[in-house]
Amino acid sequence: MDGFQTIIYRKSQGIAHISLNRPRVLNAYNIEMRDELYQVLEAVRDDPEVDVVILKGEGRAFCAGADLTEFGTAPSLTIAREVRWERDIWGTFLSIPKPLIAAIHGYCLGSGVEMALLCDIRIATEDAVFGMPEVSLGMIPAAGGTQTLPRFLGISKALELLLTRRRLRASEALELDLVTGVVVREALDSEVEATAQHLLSMNQRAVRAAKEAVWKGMELPLEAALELEARLALGAMSTRSFG
Ligand code: COA
Repeated sequence: MDGFQTIIYRKSQGIAHISLNRPRVLNAYNIEMRDELYQVLEAVRDDPEVDVVILKGEGRAFCAGADLTEFGTAPSLTIAREVRWERDIWGTFLSIPKPLIAAIHGYCLGSGVEMALLCDIRIATEDAVFGMPEVSLGMIPAAGGTQTLPRFLGISKALELLLTRRRLRASEALELDLVTGVVVREALDSEVEATAQHLLSMNQRAVRAAKEAVWKGMELPLEAALELEARLALGAMSTRSFG
């Protein structure tokens, strides 16, 4: 897959590398990026040669949020947002059974945070800065942030982040479980690659079953979640190869 304007896509030995590629505007998320990301995410979901996906940003940031310049091109902010979210990128993220790793450096704001929270592992550099500016711009996040943030951070911290303009440094993001690891800038690529290789070395059916059990189970009452786990465990066992 190539010919994209806002994304670089590369596939190598089981790993799909998706890079947000609007470095001049810190990878601000615009409609074109949405459309291209949609195509790429569907492709990696369905591609049997891909077992692990890495999402990162080109240039000096992961993603500085929705493209503010597009807000002026629609009759209202609300319509601008509706246009942007028309394609269910967020549902597509969640429909990918394979592990997704977000490699985060520099600014990670608004939809940048929201995309990262739809990944399974988030590794950030020490210089990463996180924030949710939407409310201060007169909107609310519409890419899942109001739902994923409280699930990861708890209600109090999620509300603080959503309602204030406070930005978090990587060390605080780690304390709050917004990211799963922090490394020095120079080590980001190697750390992410090592994590991807580790995931690749495992039984993919088990990896996917564990991912499904966690994401789907989170939405269920405990009893139903345990049934889901039992079903997935049986499925993973029955296809495990011994010897
Ligand atoms: N939408 C559109 N353009 C954006 C952008 C966004 N969300 N974020 C950054 N850019 C552009 C800037 O306008 C600038 O373009 P220019 O060189 O043509 O002036 C370029 O990216 C570099 O950004 P700049 O502001 O010069 O970098 P900085 O390091 O001084 O500041 C930020 C970085 C992220 C703090 C600042 O760009 C910012 O606040 N961006 C907006 C964040 C935001 O509110 N996102 C929306 C979430 S809903």
